[in-house]
Amino acid sequence: PTPSFSDYLREHIRTVPDWPAPGVQFRDITPLLQDPKVFRILIDAFVHRYMDHDRRPDVVAGLDARGFILGAVVAYELGVGFVPIRKKGKLPFTTVEETYELEYGSATVELHTDSVHAGSRVLLMDDLIATGGTMMAGKKLLEKLGAQVVEGASIVDLPELGGSTRLRAAGLDLYTLVDFA
Ligand code: PRP
Ligand code: ADE
Repeated sequence: PTPSFSDYLREHIRTVPDWPAPGVQFRDITPLLQDPKVFRILIDAFVHRYMDHDRRPDVVAGLDARGFILGAVVAYELGVGFVPIRKKGKLPFTTVEETYELEYGSATVELHTDSVHAGSRVLLMDDLIATGGTMMAGKKLLEKLGAQVVEGASIVDLPELGGSTRLRAAGLDLYTLVDFA
């Protein structure tokens, strides 16, 4: 069978066993970014989807930290602005915040209160969906400001962790390029 686009991307994602903790298979996307041809093909996949009139966002929001790499480039190519959703304590202006549960402990993310207008159509980007907690927190922050998250997009989905199912059940449309079972 002809290898698919998904297989091509998967070949450029490195799996690091037992990192950052025993039992975790870490899916490292840095090889995708390092190869200029693969990086371009990857970004173009997102850009081609969101340049369509009916999907075109008003703004792209990226999740700290790997979502910044993708989100900023996609926003630039679409000709729209980029806003960062950051881990707590990094943004200098007034923020809204959202705390969520991780596998161990919890995390808080923040968004500047003037980063999006009420009614704005936002594309929310990250590199990977595991439990979905990070993307769910991002969606809630944007909705606190009255924005509408038109789609969540990431390179990788880890479906066995249930995040993508949970996010879709919460009403978020998702676009992902590679699954790791
Ligand atoms: C990783 C990844 C996502 C998140 C996914 O980020 O880049 O943001 O975890 O996990 P979840 O679906 O269970 O929330 P990490 O917290 O490792 O931060 P980093 O990008 O700063 O490395
Ligand atoms: N974030 C949460 N789980 C991850 C994994 N297995 N690989 C890369 N990033 C992650």
